[in-house]
Amino acid sequence: MHVRVESGDIAQAKAACIVVNLFEGVTSPAGGTGAVDRALDGAISKLIAQGDLRGKYGDLVLFPTFGKVPAPRVLVVGLGKSAEFNVDKVRNLSAEAARRLRAARVESFATITHGAGIAGLDPQACAQAIAEGTLLGLYRFRQHKSASGTEDDAGEVKEAIIVEHDASKTDVLQAGADTGVVMAEAANFARDLANEPANVLTPTEFAHRAQSLAAAVGLEGEILARPQMEELGMGALLGVAAGSHQPPKLIVLRHRHGDGAALGLVGKGITFDTGGISLKQAAGMEEMKGDMSGGAAVIAAMGAIARLKPAINVTAVVPATENMPGGGAIRPGDVLKAMTGKTIEVINTDAEGRLILADGIAYARKLGCSSIVDVATLTGAMAITLGNVAMGMMGNDEALMNRVKAAAAAAGEKCWELPLFEEYREQIKSDVADIKNTGGRNAGSITAALFLKEFVEDTPWVHIDMAGVDNYEKDKGVLVKGASGIPVRTLVNLALQMARG
Ligand code: BES
Ligand code: MN
Ligand code: ZN
Repeated sequence: MHVRVESGDIAQAKAACIVVNLFEGVTSPAGGTGAVDRALDGAISKLIAQGDLRGKYGDLVLFPTFGKVPAPRVLVVGLGKSAEFNVDKVRNLSAEAARRLRAARVESFATITHGAGIAGLDPQACAQAIAEGTLLGLYRFRQHKSASGTEDDAGEVKEAIIVEHDASKTDVLQAGADTGVVMAEAANFARDLANEPANVLTPTEFAHRAQSLAAAVGLEGEILARPQMEELGMGALLGVAAGSHQPPKLIVLRHRHGDGAALGLVGKGITFDTGGISLKQAAGMEEMKGDMSGGAAVIAAMGAIARLKPAINVTAVVPATENMPGGGAIRPGDVLKAMTGKTIEVINTDAEGRLILADGIAYARKLGCSSIVDVATLTGAMAITLGNVAMGMMGNDEALMNRVKAAAAAAGEKCWELPLFEEYREQIKSDVADIKNTGGRNAGSITAALFLKEFVEDTPWVHIDMAGVDNYEKDKGVLVKGASGIPVRTLVNLALQMARG
């Protein structure tokens, strides 16, 4: 998919479809929509007068142009109420429009810059949102379908052109579109990793894909195997890996800029979570192939960071392993010694994410990360708390939390803070070790975060629990069925914002 910006008259654009828009309540369209209306002898105004075009948010009306303009069709996108319009809507509508065109077998479209006209939004942000929305919305995972293209899904949109009448604006719009493409390709890369079945995406394969990405975009990469983990004393990660025949890997990617301290991104890389000896129930267990979504997000974000080159050091650390109930598996009651020397009583082997992250976080600190953001599908409780609308955020540093909030808001990826009151710490006290790995049902997401906090010590840190937003059941705006690619764009924005100071 290509996204390019051209200056000219949208009505004269050469593409299989022209895309214009309409706010609710508008009876005589202006701007690009007005230009197309005039070229079509008032067809759009007539459709409005007739009640066939209302501009309701999400309305998509596609009709033929019968040779009045070079493009054979026009799609009018409903923007809704102008007072409620924003960049998130540009992104989501672009996704819906692109899917609609694909279903109609339209291979190319020329669009006006939704939001940059009378809505008065920042033109560069709108161009970025159009590119992001288009690429995110068109994503699909067909890796394991032997027939590529049934009757229903044969269409493919190959080209998007943003047409701007003011030639002085094209550079800014192209810059926005280019950033949007990088962001969306990164999120789609994370989706590819998370959608892969666990027999394909083993820890070894995960590490290979991270290394190929690193080679393609120019990141430093390093993969630690079991002997190095043993040397480093990563007893928590090795404990989880003990039940699996697949060897664990610890993936490290680095984006270098000068010799300042690095932002550390740590991602949970459980390539399949059976629960271990504390076995999960069968129903829905297939979803646990996505238990490496946090790790995938971190690695994918590094790809975008390498391409956008923010002036900041960023280090990604992803402990990757299966959580299996093999003969060597850890048992409830076992005590593990983490890399920091802290001992952990394993109450439930299904609380494995926090175990591998304990060593992942400790390793990021050892590598000199001066602030850490970890991302994980950590607790089912998170989905109970915030549903599939927002990710949970917890941390020990107000400034870093505010940065993450701003980065998420700019990405249109919702996040909400939960408290880490010290009273909750009681729940993870152990009688036999320094700490235990579960704190009971109450406040399950918070006690999981407090467990991680023990390994963060004084480093400024934010924990993102993305269980609940890692996977979706149907297409909606930029989200498509399957892996979400959340919070890749948040992480990239965070690095860009921190580089700006
Ligand atoms: N990977 C799961 C959490 C999860 C559940 C993510 C559903 C996405 C959807 C995690 O490893 C887990 O099993 N957590 C347990 C913790 C409990 C044993 C304290 C949970 O949430 O039940
Ligand atoms: Mn688990
Ligand atoms: Zn898990």
